Amino acid sequence: MCGIVGYVGEKEASDFLIEGLRRLEYRGYDSAGIAVYDQGKIQIEKKMGRLANLEKVLETHPLHGKIGIGHTRWATHGGPSDVNAHPHGDCHNHFVVVHNGIIENYMEIKKELLEKGHIFKSETDTEVVAHLAEELDDGDFLSTVRKVIARITGSYTLVFMDAAQPDTIICTKKDNPLIIGLGQGENFIASDIPAVISHTRRIYILNDGEMAVVRKTGVSVYDGEGLPVSKKIHEVTWSAEAAEKGGYPHFMLKEIYEQPKAVRDTVNIHIGQDSQIVFDTLNWNKSDLMGMDNILITACGTAYHAGLVAKHYIEQFARIPVEVDIASEYRYRRPLTTERTLAVVISQSGETIDTLAALKEARRLGARSIAVTNSIGSSIAREADRVIYTLAGPEIAVASTKAYTTQLVALLMLALYMGQLKGTVTNEQVQDVVKALQTLPEKIEKILENSQYIAGLADHLTKVKDVFYIGRSIDYAIAMEGALKLKEISYIHAEAYAGGELKHGTLALIVPETPVIAVATQDDVKSKMYSNIQEVRARNAEVIGIGFDDDRELEKYVTETIRIPRVSGFIAPILSVIPMQLLAYYTGVKRGNDVDKPRNLAKSVTVE
Ligand code: M6R
Repeated sequence: MCGIVGYVGEKEASDFLIEGLRRLEYRGYDSAGIAVYDQGKIQIEKKMGRLANLEKVLETHPLHGKIGIGHTRWATHGGPSDVNAHPHGDCHNHFVVVHNGIIENYMEIKKELLEKGHIFKSETDTEVVAHLAEELDDGDFLSTVRKVIARITGSYTLVFMDAAQPDTIICTKKDNPLIIGLGQGENFIASDIPAVISHTRRIYILNDGEMAVVRKTGVSVYDGEGLPVSKKIHEVTWSAEAAEKGGYPHFMLKEIYEQPKAVRDTVNIHIGQDSQIVFDTLNWNKSDLMGMDNILITACGTAYHAGLVAKHYIEQFARIPVEVDIASEYRYRRPLTTERTLAVVISQSGETIDTLAALKEARRLGARSIAVTNSIGSSIAREADRVIYTLAGPEIAVASTKAYTTQLVALLMLALYMGQLKGTVTNEQVQDVVKALQTLPEKIEKILENSQYIAGLADHLTKVKDVFYIGRSIDYAIAMEGALKLKEISYIHAEAYAGGELKHGTLALIVPETPVIAVATQDDVKSKMYSNIQEVRARNAEVIGIGFDDDRELEKYVTETIRIPRVSGFIAPILSVIPMQLLAYYTGVKRGNDVDKPRNLAKSVTVE
């Protein structure tokens, strides 16, 4: 949720800290701060609001030093304010910390520390960590941090500075991400790779419970028992440019335009010899699948919507019953998961705490598990038995776009792969879909060429209060994703309904001022969908239809048509979502919103 950075080396620490925070601002942006060891003590500057506010403060109060930590916040305990911003120090700023996550037992520890005379400045859970370190200080930085960790519960990434050891940063994590970038005579700490990519591609990914002692001369990692751990160095394969806007006004638009490549890359890794579908990382045979009674898909937000589409794919091609559950609901309802369940969790970031917790619960109940994620080495990737990576590249905008389309591709191919193994699909069916997937990037490009028309349609939406999205079958799942995109980027109320469900209540809300977006790509329910469109047209609502370019009938019923190239019903969602992403994007921009960092949201949600 929050973004964390750290630096130790020979250069001005604040230069890297600010640059790193800028690249992590998508993780939280209600306040920011840095701490640097300067003139014999740890000095802190922090400010409510965007990073630019902090930069302004630093113009008049610069911090000079070669070691420091920084933070960009998404508030949980204590509202956004200067004083609640991180870093937090103890009574004397001897220990200074930045934190991502939640310290669950902070109230009890705070009470204890208050009784001992500690003076707290903020309302945050984080501040107790600094005071606890001060209280437990035994003169050995690592030992003190270990004692602190033994006292706290919850989920966290914590990065500590100790004024008595001004050459060292110590960091640790549980259920939250943390990487260490390995440089020459300098080392970097960050929540995510984009912060360090322009400095180094060599990183350590910290596991839960590990502690890293980071100095300019090297990094030593210890396990929870204090024993040295030998870490594998990961080489990051994406370029620094991939984490930049590359001439686009927003990351979201850039990421929408990256979809042809992201889809192509994700398709290609799963096509083997004779155009068969392969999933090297699964290593399954037919008996593995025969031992499965059901599949549980669990995820959040956009990834959950991908799961809703995947249900259609898997049930159709692999003939295994699929249940799709919102991850934050799953583990609180005594689910009927067994050792004959396959749990499939979907997460772009691989760090969403609700999804991670659902995965752990499914595994505890005996399920085998697969993670579909975009983040190599993420917590979810490491927790699952098997991993399928989407090759979307870094997704920075809070609104998920290319991650979603690549999830659909990976899940469609997974469904076919299962069908291939089980014998529930013919070779011909597989070949048809493979061919269609291979030509998909060009079709996406065709839709993107039409983006100015879609930008024009966004003018219809900028002033409205409500928008309804309708669809049937797979199109209903896509309508849900379209509505979510519009809500989060434009702040316009949007709801998705199954076309046939409108007349059971929602039709009462359809008035001329309420535009309806109707997705109509599923041939088997086409005539029913046209009837639903006519029901809303009869209430004088404007309808923007999304359908195939050769569908001459749709345009008779709608006020505006967005055409997508003709594909099969299973491939259609990967195309029909793109105009909806563009519509949300242009509506958000025209309403003057910060589309990359919409209000109240953060990219990676690592709190429950
Ligand atoms: O990283 P994840 O895929 O686990 O994230 C799940 C949701 O938080 C995410 O998809 C969210 O709904 C997006 N902001 C939607 O655009």
